[in-house]
Amino acid sequence: MSVVVITGSSSGFGLEAALAFARNGDTVIATMRDTGKAGDLLARAAIEELEVQVKPLDVTRSDTFASFVETVAEEHDRLDVLINNAGIHRSGALEDLSEETFRLVMETNCIGPLLLTRAVLPHMRSQNNGLIIMMSSLSGIAGLPGDLAYAASKFALEGATEALRHEVDRWGIRVALVQAGLFKTGIMAHNLPATSATSSDGSSHSPYRPLIEWQLNNLRDRISDASDPRIVAELFVTIANSDQSRLRWPADPMAEKVLETMLAQNDLERDEFLRNVAGSDWWSQGAQAPPK
Ligand SMILES: NC(=O)c1ccc[n+]([C@@H]2O[C@H](COP(=O)([O-])OP(=O)(O)OC[C@H]3O[C@@H](n4cnc5c(N)ncnc54)[C@H](OP(=O)(O)O)[C@@H]3O)[C@@H](O)[C@H]2O)c1
Repeated sequence: MSVVVITGSSSGFGLEAALAFARNGDTVIATMRDTGKAGDLLARAAIEELEVQVKPLDVTRSDTFASFVETVAEEHDRLDVLINNAGIHRSGALEDLSEETFRLVMETNCIGPLLLTRAVLPHMRSQNNGLIIMMSSLSGIAGLPGDLAYAASKFALEGATEALRHEVDRWGIRVALVQAGLFKTGIMAHNLPATSATSSDGSSHSPYRPLIEWQLNNLRDRISDASDPRIVAELFVTIANSDQSRLRWPADPMAEKVLETMLAQNDLERDEFLRNVAGSDWWSQGAQAPPK
C-alpha cells in the first residue's frame, strides 16, 4: 500500500485518479486549491466506501510546499507517489496572451510541479524509493497555432522531466510522463473565460481572432467525443504498480500513434505532419475563414 499525493483533484483526471488509487488500496491524499470543491470526489468515494483524504494545495504557491510535505510525512511516515496532475489551458496567439496569463500557465503547468517535486525528493531519497508522474500532453511534443502558452509549458515540463529522471534513479526513484490526446474533462470549459481573442492593446480587434475562434470551436466540437478520463486514472495506477522505468506513457491510441509517428520523422516530415494535424493552411494562406 502506497501513500499517493495527487494535485488538482477537484475534477477531471485528478478526481478519477483519487478514486482509482483508493480502489487499489492506497492511501490517497487528494489535493486541490479550493477544498470547497471536494464535494463530487467525496460523494463518489462515499458511494464506493472508499477513503480519500482531502488537503488544500495550490501548485502556484511554492511557499506552502515544504509545510505540506512535512505534514504528509509526519501523518503517514512516507510519501511514495506524487502525481503532478493540476494544469490549465489558455488559448491565444503570442501577441494576444497577456504576460500575466503566459506566466500563470508556465507556473501552473511546469514550474509549480517541478518545485513540488523538489520538495518531496528528500523524502523519497531517504526511503530509497518513489514515483513522480508528470501529466503531459501531445502539446508537450507538438506545437500548434493558438496553443502556444500551453505547448510551451508542457514542452518545458517534458524536458525537465527527461533530465530529472537520471538525476534521481540511483535512489530508486522513478519518473514518468503521461501523454494524453483529448479527454472529456473540465479543461476546455475552464479555458473559456481566459480565452484571449483581444489584442495586447486591449482592443477586441485581434488580428488572430479568426484563428483562435476556429481553434476553440474545433476543440469544443471534439471534446464531446473525447475519451473517458478514467483511462488516464487507471494508467496512473498501472504505472505505480509496474516496475518498468519507462519515461513516456501514451494514454490513448491517438497519443501512441502521434508519438510513434513523430519520433520517426525528420524535421521536414514533422513540419508537414504538424501542418496537417493543425489544419490551419487556410490561415497561413491569408484567408479569414476555413473553406466550407
Ligand atoms: N483533458 C485533456 O484532454 C488533457 C489532455 C492532455 C493533458 N491534460 C492535462 O491533464 C491535467 C488535468 O487536467 P484535466 O483535463 O483533468 O482538466 P480539469 O478537469 O480542468 O482539471 C484540472 C485540475 O487542475 C486544478 N488546478 C488548476 N490550477 C491549479 C492550481 N494553481 N493549483 C492546484 N490545482 C489547480 C483544477 O482545480 P480548480 O477546480 O480549482 O480549477 C482542476 O482540479 C492537466 O495538467 C492538463 O494539462 C488534459
